[in-house]
Amino acid sequence: MLDYHIPILPAYEGYAKNLEEGVRNGLIVHPGGRVSGALLGPFDKYSHLPDKSDDTTSARTGALRQSNTRPLHPSARKVIEYFIQQKRKFRYLEIGHGAGHSCFDVYQMAQIAGVEREIHSVGLTPVDPSYGLQMTIMEVVKTLPQTERKGDFETLIRNAAHLRDTDTSGYWRLRLDAALELQRAFGHQIFAVLDSPFIDRQYIGDFGEMELPEKSYDFIHEDRGFLYHGRGSFEKRLEKVLKLVSKNGVLMVQSMDATHDGFLTDSEGKEIVLENFIVLVWLDMNDEGDTHFFVHRESDIAKKLAPALTKMTRERGAYCVGDMGNFLEENLLSLTPTSNQ
Ligand SMILES: C[S@@+](CC[C@H](N)C(=O)[O-])C[C@H]1O[C@@H](n2cnc3c(N)ncnc32)[C@H](O)[C@@H]1O
Repeated sequence: MLDYHIPILPAYEGYAKNLEEGVRNGLIVHPGGRVSGALLGPFDKYSHLPDKSDDTTSARTGALRQSNTRPLHPSARKVIEYFIQQKRKFRYLEIGHGAGHSCFDVYQMAQIAGVEREIHSVGLTPVDPSYGLQMTIMEVVKTLPQTERKGDFETLIRNAAHLRDTDTSGYWRLRLDAALELQRAFGHQIFAVLDSPFIDRQYIGDFGEMELPEKSYDFIHEDRGFLYHGRGSFEKRLEKVLKLVSKNGVLMVQSMDATHDGFLTDSEGKEIVLENFIVLVWLDMNDEGDTHFFVHRESDIAKKLAPALTKMTRERGAYCVGDMGNFLEENLLSLTPTSNQ
């Protein structure tokens, strides 16, 4: 059994201080108020922090792992590429930022292209705004020092008892303080250490209780966050998120298995009517949940996709797209030359 009561390793101090500073300077906010003064947000079974004062007996608490280190999905990258092509400032919201990997991917794409953006996120646990996670847990594990420094590494891991393989499918976890210690000891590039924040504002708390400005985000991305884990009716949660999409915007939801057959029906099988949005769905053959793409009818993106959509049949509220990445590449990106062509 993983021991969570082992003292936190010193490399975490800097991360914790940055969280405090983030709260002081308004990068990390608690719109619903803090839960009994908790700087680190309410209970979060997907927390990456080692010292969150929640259920430390849970084997699923407080570590980097597959479920909180996912990168930006290739299809979501296509949407960001589109905004980059347009060379227009865009506003991005990640709902359920985990340890911050996908937000950092968006930041990096915009940074490299020199495009202005504002990146906001929502989660139950904050991330250090100056430590951009750039690896998944599998990448961390694969690139850990194996040979000449194995002794050092094993001692570190054994002493910290942070890493383990829970089953034969290779589900790895690494306590964040151990990851930071590894980065310090071995020069590992698990995090990019930045001079300026990669998330401009983090809203910490239950999204169901937050009121964010309506129609204000050009791209909202959700990958097993509030829509997947939040409480109450799925329809109401979806409605709440859709309200935030700008008139030129898109919502992309990955692994949305709250609907039946991948289409937009509620738990009783009734079709969910979306007046202002065109819905594309990419059915997942491995049963991991489908990807949904909600495009505001008045957006440039809807106009660009219109010719392709006229050739497709619409079933139960959604257009079924064979492969979302290819579809977006062919119909959204290929018509406009990219800046480096
Ligand atoms: C399973 S993790 C996924 C993290 C990230 N999207 C990834 O795939 O690596 C769930 C995320 O959603 C957040 N979350 C879950 N329920 C939430 C709620 N009701 N309100 C706000 N955030 C929530 C968690 O704090 C966490 O950041």
